[in-house]
Amino acid sequence: MNIKSSRSKLIGAVLFTLFTVIFIQACQSEQELTYARYYINGKKLYEQHCQNCHNADGEGLGGLYPPLTDTVFLRSNKNELACIIKYGLNDTITVDEKKFEGKMPAERQMPDIEIAQIITYITNSFGNKQGLYDVTNATTDLKNCGNFSL
Ligand code: HEC
Repeated sequence: MNIKSSRSKLIGAVLFTLFTVIFIQACQSEQELTYARYYINGKKLYEQHCQNCHNADGEGLGGLYPPLTDTVFLRSNKNELACIIKYGLNDTITVDEKKFEGKMPAERQMPDIEIAQIITYITNSFGNKQGLYDVTNATTDLKNCGNFSL
């Protein structure tokens, strides 16, 4: 192999690596932007619709309103969160080792995208770190609300 062709191979390999890196980074920052948009909107919606009961810090209120700081509860019931927000909850549940028997009101008018934004916010705040939950996740989970149990 002569020097010229191995040099051009090397340049080719360098360029290929460079473009791959740029491409991957562009995709990552696109994802980060989407996540940031969901999170910021979710925070605003949380303040309007949820904060009164669950508190700004997600701690809830005594034995009345359960906290959103129980990362195990939020993780294991992730597919039910959209249904809880849309249709409310009137059950007996155990959160953070405490029993709750109150009634959470429904948000039947809330569009899937807003439900997804709120879920992205609560599952990435108060000690939770679960990443983006997007509108297609919400639409899928909301199709299965008929038969969920916590
Ligand atoms: C009027 C008070 C009230 C409002 C407003 C409210 N919740 Fe709740 N929430 C409750 C109560 C009470 C329960 C427990 C219901 C039960 O025991 O069946 C609950 C349960 C939950 C749960 C499951 C238990 C837990 O703590 O993880 C989640 C998640 C939740 N709420 C999220 C939200 C979100 C998000 C909003 C805003 C869209 C919201 N809630 C608005 C009172 C409220």
